[in-house]
Amino acid sequence: MSDVSADARPRGLRDTSFFGHPKGLAILFLTEMWERFSYYGMRGLLVIYLTQHFLFSDQQSTLIYGAYTALVYVMTIIGGTLADRYLGQRKAVTYGAILLVLGHGLMAFEGAGSREVFEYEGAQYEITLDGRGGDASQLVISERGRSVASFQQSGEILALEDPAAVGLPAELDWTGIETRVEQQQLYVNILYLALALIIAGVGYLKANISTIVGELYELGDPRRDSGFTLFYMGINLGSFLSSVTVGWIGIAYGWKYGFGLAGIGMLAGLLTFLFFQHWLEGKAAPPDPEKLKKPVLGPINVELACYLAGLVIIAVAFIAVTLPDYFGGVVGPLGLIMLLFMAGYALFQTKGEERGQMFAALYFILAQIPFWALFEQAGSSLNLFTDRLVDRTMFGWSVPAPVFQSLNAGFIIIFAPILAWLWVTLAKRRLNPSTPVKFAIGVFMAGLGFYALVGGISVAGSGLIAVYFIFLIYWIHTMGELMLSPVGLSAVTKLAPARVVGMTMGAWFLFSGLSNYLAGVIASTTGAETIGGQLTDPEAAKATYAAVYSNVGMTAMGIAVVMLAISPLIKKLMGSAAKDMEPHPEDTEAGGPSMDRSSGAP
Ligand code: ALA
Repeated sequence: MSDVSADARPRGLRDTSFFGHPKGLAILFLTEMWERFSYYGMRGLLVIYLTQHFLFSDQQSTLIYGAYTALVYVMTIIGGTLADRYLGQRKAVTYGAILLVLGHGLMAFEGAGSREVFEYEGAQYEITLDGRGGDASQLVISERGRSVASFQQSGEILALEDPAAVGLPAELDWTGIETRVEQQQLYVNILYLALALIIAGVGYLKANISTIVGELYELGDPRRDSGFTLFYMGINLGSFLSSVTVGWIGIAYGWKYGFGLAGIGMLAGLLTFLFFQHWLEGKAAPPDPEKLKKPVLGPINVELACYLAGLVIIAVAFIAVTLPDYFGGVVGPLGLIMLLFMAGYALFQTKGEERGQMFAALYFILAQIPFWALFEQAGSSLNLFTDRLVDRTMFGWSVPAPVFQSLNAGFIIIFAPILAWLWVTLAKRRLNPSTPVKFAIGVFMAGLGFYALVGGISVAGSGLIAVYFIFLIYWIHTMGELMLSPVGLSAVTKLAPARVVGMTMGAWFLFSGLSNYLAGVIASTTGAETIGGQLTDPEAAKATYAAVYSNVGMTAMGIAVVMLAISPLIKKLMGSAAKDMEPHPEDTEAGGPSMDRSSGAP
């Protein structure tokens, strides 16, 4: 990398101890790696845990999942604001990490799980799973004994392997039978509390830790972009490692061991941050330490009030994950108001190039919606699909479904550098696609990925879907992610006038969150009939997945075509900012297009 004159200090004074970067980056890299380790590890198990352990319906599970992943983003607005105004990022990250250790730790208290029971000729039976994940077989338990069972003929018959042991007919006519789910309310509440703690924890940590990365570099330091690229690799390294380990252990040995491992990872992150934060050399301190000591109410000072705000977040999040059906009704209008406000601002408070740029920012904020709404099926409906309907056997090992979540991060680690190189090479020939074109390609790929999978479903006929199609959809989606995610927030923050940059960033997060909820809603329409956490009619489920996936895939590709058509217009609106988004051809070592805050954003 060329040593640009913007760094006026002599070379020797620059801290280059971590791959040419300040050693503070090592701490942020490791802390965020562990934080994402816990987040993605837990996320890979979550929806299967909800359906199999708590016996929530598919619909309810995917909605809870949607509200949870949405709130994780939305709450970064509050965590970010509190840090900017009062706490400073370092304290906010520490507090967030503590909440996360508590949340992930609490996930390990699973209880005995829910029970699904039915009555037959006056006697009661329980129907449950022998193990976890898609390979677990169904068990029927009576007072006398137990038998392995399976649904046949589109779920109309329950066939028992050892009918005498339980005292039921070998082929039980299922059509008239109703089941009842008995949940242990205490453990369901522990689950909600754990989710709420994680939401608050990520809220205090995620945006702020990326902000600290930015603060490590002085204005104009040419290492800034590659610093964010490294940080982004840390995120994906954490995600990769946990999807494999937490996902496998959680399914093979027990939920609590998987979640526990995620908690241990987060503890490692907290300890790293606590012990080595002096490497940050006083950066990310409170903007005004005196203000923190000001009393607010009785013994409560400003600092304590900032921490107590976390309890409010936890309470709100708790209610939201309990009632996920209402989430969209509350947060949707909030998004609309924000949008109208920003459009009004652009119309009446800006003019000339600034106005165009503000509208371009609004465009990108909205354009991410179709992408995330599809991409974020990964942890929910696609995860269930992989678990239930894919032949997951590879090299003689039946790979647990959550392990496939690692494909996204793995592909990022491999392809992010290749794409960065590609952008620079294209830029040299003036062929680099503009940001709006990349967005359109990203959305297109989100749709295309699902088409590939639908192809896989139809090739499979009445059998299981070949595992290659899972590789294929994750690869296509990841390439799409690389078009859109590393540039998104950075584009938006560069476009917004300085006075409203915070609000614009908030809008980006709010709409990321809303997209995640929308993803949950889409996932819930794929919901299949399950008993005891297992499909009763795989063929019907397959047909539903194929129908929903081809619908959303087609819609996204349609939207992408429109986006491509209007991309010259958006580029014009971006004005001079469009140039800023270009990679610098002379700067071949850097991460390519600005991997700004966005890359590390939640
Ligand atoms: N691809 C997810 C995020 O960067 C894990 O990166």
